Amino acid sequence: MTFPEQRPRRLRRTEALRSLVRETDLAARHLAAPLFVKEGIAEPVPISSMPGHHQHTLESLRKEARELAEKGIRALLLFGIPARKDPEGVQAWSEEGVAQRAVSALREELGDEVVVIADLCLCEYTDHGHCGILDGEDLDNDATLQRYRRIAVSQAAAGADLVAPSGMMDGQVAAIRAALDEEGFAGTAILAYAAKYASSFYGPFREAAEGAPRFGDRRSHQMDPANADEALREIRADVAEGADIVMVKPALPYLDVIRRARDAVDVPVAAYQVSGEYAMIKAAAERGWIDGTAAMLETLTAIRRSGAGLILTYFAREAADLL
Ligand code: PBG
Repeated sequence: MTFPEQRPRRLRRTEALRSLVRETDLAARHLAAPLFVKEGIAEPVPISSMPGHHQHTLESLRKEARELAEKGIRALLLFGIPARKDPEGVQAWSEEGVAQRAVSALREELGDEVVVIADLCLCEYTDHGHCGILDGEDLDNDATLQRYRRIAVSQAAAGADLVAPSGMMDGQVAAIRAALDEEGFAGTAILAYAAKYASSFYGPFREAAEGAPRFGDRRSHQMDPANADEALREIRADVAEGADIVMVKPALPYLDVIRRARDAVDVPVAAYQVSGEYAMIKAAAERGWIDGTAAMLETLTAIRRSGAGLILTYFAREAADLL
């Protein structure tokens, strides 16, 4: 059957018809909100490149998390910014570290109403801004794994439901899984940043989390944007090492990778719509060049359509208001 018998427009005539045949749905439960908490500030500090977002105090973090939960956003991804940094990033695994205190504050505030995800990396904690221990100007992969083990255990002890290693060190999931199991945290899950690309879209985040590298870049560990087969190898390796959820990051430039991940593995697949993806839409909308709300919903729907069960997004709050 073809035109004139076939007329696809018949099913697009009214909103009721369109909604009847809509293939992809988007709800607050699909979204997770990244939040920043900074040590040593008295008031929340606005992040200029990410309108609507702040570096939080513990108090303002609690308030924000409660409001998000009331809107139906049940998953929160926490980034800590310590007052003091050093070459090793020791604040990353301190019991009194800002991230650990934030995790317990959220547990205390909201109990099991929310899923608390702790980002697990060293770049916000090291004075050089790299994601691990340096050996000269290179990252020492295996020495870094030892630190990731300690960070994971400290975050689990603080009450994180999931730890989310984002440093792209080889073997990081296996190392963290073993450490958690050895220390009695077999129930703490791992959300692996499995295919994380060396992307220009992290720009605003580096202002937000104060974790820009002082020299060099992250191309020796984050993935080459040209590669997708390699992403599948990373994803399969992380699943084999014990990842409970795998993530692709950024989202919109890598929809093909999200789709291939969804088809290749049977664990939940997450996608991270990163700071630059958010900032681009905000900036264009501010100039009146696009409809920001429509663009937000379109991109989130596209990310869901590509196969992501969960989307980490700075639009979580705004989207939940509409959904
Ligand atoms: C590193 C980390 C980064 C992001 C999340 N975790 C930055 C980087 O790799 O340089 C970026 C997130 C975003 O841009 O929203 N711990």
